[in-house]
Amino acid sequence: MLSERLLKDGRTLCIRNAMGQDAEAVLAFVHRVASESDFLTFGPGEFELTLAQERAFLDSLLVRSNEVYLLGLIDSELVATISFAGGSRPRVRHLGEFGMSVRQQDWGCGIGRMMLETLIAWARSGDVVKKINLRVRTDNARAIALYESLGFSRECTLRGAIRIHETYFDNHLMTLWV
Ligand SMILES: CC(C)(COP(=O)(O)OP(=O)(O)OC[C@H]1O[C@@H](n2cnc3c(N)ncnc32)[C@H](O)[C@@H]1OP(=O)(O)O)[C@@H](O)C(=O)NCCC(=O)NCCS
Repeated sequence: MLSERLLKDGRTLCIRNAMGQDAEAVLAFVHRVASESDFLTFGPGEFELTLAQERAFLDSLLVRSNEVYLLGLIDSELVATISFAGGSRPRVRHLGEFGMSVRQQDWGCGIGRMMLETLIAWARSGDVVKKINLRVRTDNARAIALYESLGFSRECTLRGAIRIHETYFDNHLMTLWV
């Protein structure tokens, strides 16, 4: 998949599938966003994959029909990622969950919306994925506004889903049938 989208500030966002050779940039990005936001399921230094494991993981996704890892690049620099993992068994292959991040300096530029629109288009273009799930902290107003504006609805609230130090946070489970 390859798409080029014009941002409101005039820059061009290029969205394409990640490959093994992107592993180093992806790991650097993941470590960066872990320290820029408390809304992820991992904090600084807590993402555990090695370079070799990340490379193998990204390469393995290129042949999957219900998993994808997309990169958002501006002038070849990685600014956003979105990844979706579907179930592996027949009864759960039709659904899966995504996670996404945009680097903090580019929040509010429309990049998150374009990444998610591209993921939804990818799901609709195949005949495997029928339902996209996500979990989002109930206090992540920016992300929730984005998801609702693209048609996701709240199915339930998962209490105490995230623990950071001694504080517990709830997650909404939000879903979209595609
Ligand atoms: C959540 C995140 C992915 C959104 O990406 P983004 O590029 O900033 O989002 P966009 O610029 O496309 O904005 C999308 C929508 O968010 C909402 N939004 C933007 N800024 C907002 C703000 N300050 N407060 C509330 N909502 C806001 C708007 O509804 C906007 O839609 P619009 O196109 O009508 O303006 C990004 O902020 C991020 O990576 N955050 C940290 C990690 C994270 O929370 N990941 C999601 C975990 S579930």
